Amino acid sequence: MARVLSGIQPSGAMHIGNYFGAIKNFVIEQGQADAFYCVVDLHALTQNVEPEILASNTLDLMAIYLASGLNPDVCTLFLQSHVVEHTQLAWLLECTASMGELRRMTQFKDKGGDQEGTRVGLFTYPVLMAADILLYDVDRVPVGDDQRQHLELTRDLAQRFNHRFGEMFVIPEATIPAVGARVMDLQEPTRKMSKSVSSPLGTINMLDEPSEIERKIKKAVTDTDGEVRYDTAVKPGLATLLSIFAACEGVAPTIIAERYERYGDLKRDAAAALIEELRPIQQRYREYRDDPVALKAMMELGAAKARAVASQTYRRAADAVGLVAP
Ligand code: TYM
Repeated sequence: MARVLSGIQPSGAMHIGNYFGAIKNFVIEQGQADAFYCVVDLHALTQNVEPEILASNTLDLMAIYLASGLNPDVCTLFLQSHVVEHTQLAWLLECTASMGELRRMTQFKDKGGDQEGTRVGLFTYPVLMAADILLYDVDRVPVGDDQRQHLELTRDLAQRFNHRFGEMFVIPEATIPAVGARVMDLQEPTRKMSKSVSSPLGTINMLDEPSEIERKIKKAVTDTDGEVRYDTAVKPGLATLLSIFAACEGVAPTIIAERYERYGDLKRDAAAALIEELRPIQQRYREYRDDPVALKAMMELGAAKARAVASQTYRRAADAVGLVAP
């Protein structure tokens, strides 16, 4: 059976980019593969975050995973920091990675890049991500389009390690969804939807009220030529709405475009489809989030399952580089 792993940072409210780019496919993959999903809390430390907020965001995200349909009896759900082998393997990989290849990471450059005050954790972030993946011998990593370069680095690091120390790691592939891999901001449709954008109207969160979703879609930026057509270069605002609608329906955006003549009708139906898509998740969310004791018990079981795999891979890699076993 193929194995998959992915992770999301607990760095604030989950938006529909996270959902269509990642979480929706996590749910599909859990039925097809031996799936491991983590909340990457160590990665969230690369940003300036208040300790109590990080702890609360972590439980929020676990509740979102469960509410979205991830089932801990079917897949392994865990917290990255509960499996210490992630940081241990990251160190072994850091000792094979070069400054040059990490400096080229576009996400690092976007977040400030090589400056005196930049945190070292932000620089080595992709190596920790590589460790997350390589510990589990995974075949596929379901992610949004913005993680493509990090996956390439993971493959490079794995191949280098294998070449130097003997066949050790499975070389993983990114699986990027056909629709929804890059959900754009509703107000600035040439940039991707993200948690760190100035206009809250541009981002739809998974837990937004239906009236809020309607309002944001109604106010979404379009253009003035009035023709419904899927064209990301010329009509990026409309393309964003068509993609969101298409991701809800599981069809290509061009198919949706053929059904409409007026922007107003398209917006109305896109909002309705999105509200329907998120409704069951929103209904289940509170139930999971309001029971932190159950969440913690679930995470403990997940960590034990994850550790059973990760500890073996780590020991194999540690032996290979010459670290004497205890
Ligand atoms: P993060 O937390 O930034 O994002 C989580 C997932 O959401 C996807 N995503 C999007 N997809 C479509 N449109 C968008 N606008 C959008 N914004 C975010 C991301 O592609 C991602 O799949 N480095 C990772 C976390 C990570 C990880 C891993 C992922 C750490 N270790 C191991 C996979 C495997 C990140 O920052 O994701």
